[in-house]
Order: sequence, then C-alpha cells, then structure tokens
Amino acid sequence: MLLPYLRQLLANGQTHLAVTPEAREVLRKIYKGDISFGEDAARSSTQAQLANAAVTATAIPRPNTQQSVQTPLNIPKPTPQGDTPEEKIASLRELAQHWPAFHSLGSFREHLVFSVGPVQADLMLIGDTPGYHEEQKREPFAGPAGEKLNAILKAMGLAREQVYLTNICKYRPALPGQTRNNRPARPEEVQLSRPFVLSEIEIVQPKVIIALGAAAAHALLENKESFDTMRSQWHEVDATPVRVSHHPSFLLLADKDALAEKRKIWEDMLVVMEKLALPISDKQRTFFLPKS
Ligand code: URA
Repeated sequence: MLLPYLRQLLANGQTHLAVTPEAREVLRKIYKGDISFGEDAARSSTQAQLANAAVTATAIPRPNTQQSVQTPLNIPKPTPQGDTPEEKIASLRELAQHWPAFHSLGSFREHLVFSVGPVQADLMLIGDTPGYHEEQKREPFAGPAGEKLNAILKAMGLAREQVYLTNICKYRPALPGQTRNNRPARPEEVQLSRPFVLSEIEIVQPKVIIALGAAAAHALLENKESFDTMRSQWHEVDATPVRVSHHPSFLLLADKDALAEKRKIWEDMLVVMEKLALPISDKQRTFFLPKS
C-alpha cells in the first residue's frame, strides 16, 4: 500500500514528503527491526499505519502535474542574519536552501537557484523560473535566454557582473522523468518564493528593477494586468521603481516583426538607462530603428 502510494507521488512529480512524528516512529521501528515485514498481514497493516501517519496528519499541499494549490499562502518575509548586505544575502540563500516549506511542497527539484551578482548593484533584474541550464549552474539566466540577456546588457553598456540577477521562483519545478524539459512555476511555488525576493530587494536596494516577462511582473507586482498595460509605465515595489519588459527568451522566437519588437524592448531599456543616469550615446538611441 505504501510503496504504490509513494510511486504514484513520484510519478506526479512530487519528490519530497512530509513525515509526521507518528510516521517517523513507525519508520524508526522498521529500521531497528522492531517491526518486521515477515508476514503479509503485518506488512500491509504496518504500511497502512505508515501511510496514514504520513498523510492524514499533515496539512502540507501535495500538488501533482495537473493540479495546483490555489489558496493564497501568507508567508512572512524571511529575516536574514548578518551585518553587511553580503552577509544578509548569504544568510537568505541559506534560509532558502533549508526552508522546510519549499521541501514540503514536494514539487521542486533539489537544487536552489538563488541569485547572482553584486549586492551593491543599481539594477536588479527579476526573471521567473529557473530551468535546466540554471539548475546545472545554480545561477539565474545561465542558458540561451541568459545569453540574450547578456547581449541586451552589453548594448546598455553594462556587463552581466554589474547587475543583480534573481528569479521570482527559487527552485526549478519538477516533472516526472525530467531531463532537460522545464515547466512554468505554479502559483504556490511562486507564493513561497516571493517573500525571498522582497527580502533581496530590501537588502540590495537597487535603484531600478526590471521584471522580465509577464510571469515575473505578475508575481512581483501581484496583479493580473495585461503585459501591454504593465509595460510603458513605472511601478513600485517597496518604494523601488519597477519597469516591465519582455523576457529575453521572447527574442529567441524570431519572427517577421523581430526588429520592431527589439526596438520596443530597447525603448524599455533606454527608459531604465535614463532613470539610472547611465550615459546614452546618439548611436544607442537609434538602435533597432528601421534603416531610412
Ligand atoms: N528564465 C527565467 O526567467 N529565469 C531564469 O533563470 C532562466 C530563464
């Protein structure tokens, strides 16, 4: 009874299970040999006891690949230790690494993908969800979308190492039999992660934030506005100005309007550069305009 149940959870993408004190006690007895699986009846009663103890006494959501938990989770902002911003970010990362709620959710993969970049950065870029490449490197924007992002930053006169990169979801979401395939984060996965991002904003105190893509913008700004409505205006999170632009992976989908889309993204960046008082050359102002 227990093993099929656990296999079913695994097939649904759940990799962690909350174990209640009762279940732990049964497991301890099995481990010590106080309970034997010698007899079928004993086995099924032990397994039933264990499965019940593990499942019925826990309120931790057990999402599968089809369903997600819709109830809002009121998660307080984590309180990092340390005196300097570097120490605080390190502490926050440590908290996220061991935070039971992430693991109890059971729908994330194992490795934390927290953030990268200097804590003194003026510009913070917030993406949505880490994927295969990010998990491999344990760093946001590590794959092809990251290369696009680096190119955008370069056009702005910035190096990747000068900006603080983070994601609204702190782990790569799990899928059954997963290899390089990724899935978007579910609402509850984002809700658990968002307080960490708010803490990062408080610690880094960037002058400007760019939310990359509608998913990151919706999660950060907690609204359901259309992308076009959110774009082209300033928003605020904790008194920090936020601009919304396309996710760099949008640029990986080349189409006939690529130049016009690139220009619109570039205009988002020009507004941010102005806000940051970065130098803007005449040439930069004309990037991605059609040749006349
Ligand atoms: N897309 C994101 O939004 N974040 C990453 O880290 C990678 C891809």
